[in-house]
Amino acid sequence: MLQETRLITRRLREFPDDSWTIERALDDGAYETLRKVVTEMSPDEVIEVTKDSGLRGRGGAGFPTGMKWSFVPKDVFPKYLVVNHDEGEPCTFKDRELAESDPHAVLEGIAIAAFANQASKAFIYCRGEFALGSRRLDRAISEAYDKGFLGSGIFGSKFDLDIILHRGAGAYICGEESALLDSLEGYRGQPRLRPPYPAVKGLYGQPTVVNNTETLATLPWIFANGAGAYKKYGTEKSPGTKMFSVSGHIERPANYEVPLGTKLQDILDLAGGMRGGKKLKAVIPGGASSPLLTDTDIAMDFDTLKEAGTMLGSGAITFLDEDTCMVRNALVTLEFFEHESCGKCTPCREGTWWAVKVLERVEHGEGRPEDMSLLHDIANGMDGRSFCPLGDAASWALRSNVKLFLDEFEQHVDLGRCPAEEEHKVLVGARRGIGLGEAGVGDQPSSGIGVDAAGAS
Ligand SMILES: Cc1cc2nc3c(=O)[nH]c(=O)nc-3n(C[C@H](O)[C@H](O)[C@H](O)COP(=O)(O)O)c2cc1C
Ligand code: SF4
Repeated sequence: MLQETRLITRRLREFPDDSWTIERALDDGAYETLRKVVTEMSPDEVIEVTKDSGLRGRGGAGFPTGMKWSFVPKDVFPKYLVVNHDEGEPCTFKDRELAESDPHAVLEGIAIAAFANQASKAFIYCRGEFALGSRRLDRAISEAYDKGFLGSGIFGSKFDLDIILHRGAGAYICGEESALLDSLEGYRGQPRLRPPYPAVKGLYGQPTVVNNTETLATLPWIFANGAGAYKKYGTEKSPGTKMFSVSGHIERPANYEVPLGTKLQDILDLAGGMRGGKKLKAVIPGGASSPLLTDTDIAMDFDTLKEAGTMLGSGAITFLDEDTCMVRNALVTLEFFEHESCGKCTPCREGTWWAVKVLERVEHGEGRPEDMSLLHDIANGMDGRSFCPLGDAASWALRSNVKLFLDEFEQHVDLGRCPAEEEHKVLVGARRGIGLGEAGVGDQPSSGIGVDAAGAS
């Protein structure tokens, strides 16, 4: 059976009892790569190696990291590095584990990226709910200052770096990079019109690189081992490894690091297979925004998933078993988008709200035969017409559920109830659940969409 390839998760898996401490990190060679980078390389060389490694952003879009850095104007100062540690995509929990269990690898990666981009200030935008992770990051930052890995003249070079940890208030839209910048500046977190892109005009109007936590935590390995060694893993266009957050109706939900291009079935096997030997019904391959798959014979890399009409996204894979009600799955997913829609543009604000209303009535036995085509119309009204990708993503998730599981939607309408209702009596997110206690929690699900699947974020 496939084993994990632990490049960025090696330290935290080998030393689970103390991987986050400065003592363990130093004993394991932390900050040695940073020393080599700032004392032996120029910022341009660091950008070239990053380009050569083929590293693509792990926040969702898969944009080549080195190329993004090369868009930053050389002669405008100050420049900023912003770390996207918001991780709001449902079922994604890789950045959280990285910051909680190996904060010094995250800081070392931040320092390498800041050096490459000649940024002397880096901001970590940390999801508000990450209590343990933010405490560990906070402590790691203090320790790094004490050891001289942050501050002025790092390793005797001319490179200065301050890191500021900022906790958000827990809004999904603040993971979108331009909304994140508004939030960081103290405004309401809503997307900005682009261009100009952050690389040219970002935080406080200055050139700003925004990178995901996992992207940055990969840099120490690349600079310790070389771009060539990194490219030996993964595929030609999606090199390296990726942390996949694997959840849903499986035996062992967890983060698994495997080369990009690994078969989805191998990842399912790594996670112990389907819970209780149940059959697979659907897979959400890249977070709630990604259209569904119905089988596991596919290579998990950016381009293959795009060709298959879906996306790798943040690498959050959720497996749904044969007992799952797909109308409820669509409802829970759209409720998430409705709740997180920032309200700035009409197609998303009204479209997500309307879709939830229609899905609620289908799920609760009051659906009409024309509701499925109405749901397609609502999706078409959001797709390509929303101000930012949140509205588009909501439409993809909606359309995919209705298209692939049309028979289930029709069955709900024909029967005048949810076919799975009697068996499971599960409420997750649905507002008008049947058979619920006051706390809004029904009988424990034997299966169906549970909190370990689409309800978790
Ligand atoms: C609605 C929305 C939410 C997002 N949430 C996150 C997030 O939580 N974390 C993240 O790194 N990127 C998120 N992104 C992607 C960021 O906008 C951006 O592409 C990413 O931080 C760039 O870093 P990377 O190039 O290292 O991937 C989100 C995008 C959208 C549209
Ligand atoms: S698409 Fe949704 S989240 Fe994005 S700007 Fe419009 S209302 Fe806000």
